[in-house]
Amino acid sequence: MADGFAPMAFTPAIDDATRPIWDKVKRQVTPLEWRLQAPLIAAINALKKQKNAVILAHNYMTPEIFHGVGDFVGDSLALAREAARSDAAVIVQAGVHFMAETSKVLCPDKTVLIPDLRAGCSLASSITGADVRLIKQRYPGLPVVTYVNTTADVKAETDICCTSANAVQVVEHAAREWGVDRVILIPDEFLARNVARQTTVGIIAWKGRCEVHERFDRADMLELRAAYPDAQILAHPECPSEVLEEVDFAGSTAAMTDYVMRRKPRQVVLITECSMADNIACDAPETEFVRPCNLCPHMKRITLQTIHDSLLYDRYVVEIDPAIADRARLAVQRMIDMPPPATPARYDLIKARHHVDVDLI
Ligand code: 13P
Ligand code: SF4
Repeated sequence: MADGFAPMAFTPAIDDATRPIWDKVKRQVTPLEWRLQAPLIAAINALKKQKNAVILAHNYMTPEIFHGVGDFVGDSLALAREAARSDAAVIVQAGVHFMAETSKVLCPDKTVLIPDLRAGCSLASSITGADVRLIKQRYPGLPVVTYVNTTADVKAETDICCTSANAVQVVEHAAREWGVDRVILIPDEFLARNVARQTTVGIIAWKGRCEVHERFDRADMLELRAAYPDAQILAHPECPSEVLEEVDFAGSTAAMTDYVMRRKPRQVVLITECSMADNIACDAPETEFVRPCNLCPHMKRITLQTIHDSLLYDRYVVEIDPAIADRARLAVQRMIDMPPPATPARYDLIKARHHVDVDLI
């Protein structure tokens, strides 16, 4: 068995067992890489059976993880729904720590593992539960809508969670339920500004940023347009509004995948984390992906090796104080209980409404 970085043998039996996965990923993975990856994939898939475990893999995982060992793949919303439904004894979160916490909140009796404790998130670390308590004092009576990219502590102070796939729907639902015309939407400033342009509900926002998406700007989009005039440009709503104003489509990672798979554009630019394009490219060979992407250093902490060792040694177990988890569950469950959006959420009004202000705390 592999431990640390000792390579495992690429035997004919492993070659046979992993061939369908190779056929899928071979345009994104080199044969040399595959000889190291295939034995780990085979070992991980055997360990999953042995331990009654499932792997929830986010769209930003690399292709050998996403296509090789992920039992459920998707955006943050889909993974939270899968965690809630899962009857496995163990959940391995191939994603970042806040996603593993969400799984633990929803499945308190299961063992939830995160393969690397350093897989954090700049949005999740931008705000604490104490910050949210202060915000609530400043805006009494307004519902707190929190992006799932937050710690359980923050979710415990939250009325209802959202993801980029349902943020507009959740904001409008919260305003209706609380009978108010403004809501607190934290911690992503850019998501909040982009949501504000889709709704008449007033938004109070926090100055958190995704370190991957904040780096794109309007000039990048104009350069891309000039260099690739026929390409469809798609962006994640964690990007600044000036980016979304210039693109053909904006939506969650799942919505962008759906857009490419349905329309099969000849050339596409995905303004998001790099692995998204690699994963979709495995399923859409006719589309050419231009890659001005940024890597998320936190997502990239998760590798086949750390997943393998996580399953083998039951590490690292995600624990949450039950009192916090119970309160956080209410906020996540309220989101899960909402009907899934009929169509993937999109951010079409970005271009139409240029003067929507948000209150930045
Ligand atoms: P999605 O919810 O669109 O998957 O994106 C969340 C994200 O940025 C995870 O890092
Ligand atoms: Fe957080 Fe951004 Fe990385 Fe997603 S891509 S985990 S929002 S830092």
